[in-house]
Amino acid sequence: MTEHLTVVTHPLVQHKLSIMRDQETSTSKFRQLLREISMLLAYEVTRDLPLTSVKIQTPVCAMDAPMLEGRKLALISILRAGNGLLDGILELVPAARVGFVGLYRDPETLTPVQYYCKLPADLAERWTIVVDPMLATGNSSVAAVDLIKAQGAQNVIFLCLLAAPEGVKRMHEAHPDVRIVTAALDDHLNDHGYIVPGLGDAGDRMFGTK
Ligand code: URA
Repeated sequence: MTEHLTVVTHPLVQHKLSIMRDQETSTSKFRQLLREISMLLAYEVTRDLPLTSVKIQTPVCAMDAPMLEGRKLALISILRAGNGLLDGILELVPAARVGFVGLYRDPETLTPVQYYCKLPADLAERWTIVVDPMLATGNSSVAAVDLIKAQGAQNVIFLCLLAAPEGVKRMHEAHPDVRIVTAALDDHLNDHGYIVPGLGDAGDRMFGTK
């Protein structure tokens, strides 16, 4: 299970995350930290992107310079909280294509129901990073990956801020090929489906709603 789970233990990530967890942290500070932390996570999540060599001319001489190979990135945000992770990542990889998946939980069946889906057309040719700050039960995350794979995505990474062991297990069982990158693996889910210790409702914290 650990092979496909990366916890980004960098001190800057951990420091920023602790401030985000604090219930006294304001919405504007939370947003600012989320943007900063998403850049640091983007650095980790893109670590294995393949490079190719391109001939360039520096002011001094010609050289074979490493550049990202042709295959580009797609970022897929799970609405609404996923959008909070997008901005910082796009700052580092501005050429990435962006897709959105909207899911809500059916109150009767408790299963995720899709209400919106707009994905880049050429997912099969891209490295796909699905972003959602909280991997809690894993139900909506797995449903989003189901959708994305049905549209051709083959190389999928799931990027979140916090993961619960329950969500990691669910994702690994449903999609063993999907690598999960997170800033922390928390303890458990409570009876309301919140991650413990967590940070509360990520969407509410970032958008100032209740
Ligand atoms: N979604 C959230 O926003 N927070 C949690 O703790 C779990 C799911």
